[in-house]
Amino acid sequence: MRHLIDFTDLSEREWEHLYRRFEEIIEHPGDYRDALKGQTLASLFYEPSTRTRLSFEAAMLKLGGGVFGFSDPAASSVSKGETLKDTIIMTSAYADVLTLRHPREGAALAASLYAAVPVINAGDGGHCHPTQTLTDLVTLRRLRGSVDGLRIAVCGDLKYGRTAHSLLRALSRFEGISAVLVSAPELSLPEYVTCPRMPLYKQPDLRAVIGEVDVLYMTRVQRERFRDPAEYERLKDRYTLTPEILRDAPEDLLIMHPLPRAGEIDEAVDSDSRAVYFEQARFGMFARMALLLELCSLPPFAVKATGTPGVHRCNNPNCITKTEPCLPVFEGSVCRYCEHLSP
Ligand code: CP
Repeated sequence: MRHLIDFTDLSEREWEHLYRRFEEIIEHPGDYRDALKGQTLASLFYEPSTRTRLSFEAAMLKLGGGVFGFSDPAASSVSKGETLKDTIIMTSAYADVLTLRHPREGAALAASLYAAVPVINAGDGGHCHPTQTLTDLVTLRRLRGSVDGLRIAVCGDLKYGRTAHSLLRALSRFEGISAVLVSAPELSLPEYVTCPRMPLYKQPDLRAVIGEVDVLYMTRVQRERFRDPAEYERLKDRYTLTPEILRDAPEDLLIMHPLPRAGEIDEAVDSDSRAVYFEQARFGMFARMALLLELCSLPPFAVKATGTPGVHRCNNPNCITKTEPCLPVFEGSVCRYCEHLSP
């Protein structure tokens, strides 16, 4: 692993190592106070964030490192038309590791081609969110003892929900997992999110699955990805988890959510001992500390831009190739950046 573009970049061994490190940090945080002294994180957020940005920044500070960056691209030279490529070349000259959140799908992979330091994908449009998945998996393992054998329902916006995409793909690498996809047909999982070896069932009725799963993973309908606001309004309240629905759920259910929520979990659920979403977000900071420790220990490496700039054949209007036309072109029937089929 040099960059973390999606969770599947991690080998099984690297995941094991990260989990053990996470446990050590959470048990003995003081031992890591100066672990990254003198190192710097560039925090490049082209989209709003609370948990991902602030937990990464807190993680770096708790490890003794420094942080700089922007949380609003309007306050950077992006507002003057600077490309992602140039922004990454510049910031990777100043920092030891980069975190990037961007509205375009494939932006993190594009950035990694020009970075001389590790790039961590902090969310690229409606595509992937690997550090949320890292957060989700450490939560599952810490609270259940193991990820294997899990029965999970993932509910909400499976079309634009990058956390669902990365989580389902990652879970398919564990043993004995089954997943139920609970969504409106208009918000079902994109075809490019494949989960080899893991049975996926569709059940649009949340009440029909709540008694049959170990974990309920709720997600927000992603308003910012909709082209038609009326379509968002029509779909946004399809699922709301309430204490009444939870009456049929197992006593040891884990209720998870990447947050932020926008009405899909009633606040009355917060006092239910099965609701672990705030603890999950807290674990995310320790998981990101473990990840930063690993990536900051890598030796510097040469910029890896490959391919020939040219015409990109991608039919996804949200792909990074639509705004960064000079990115290397890769051959193939699938866009290497956003994974959508090429025309
Ligand atoms: N879960 C998550 O990505 O939250 P933020 O958008 O607040 O970072």
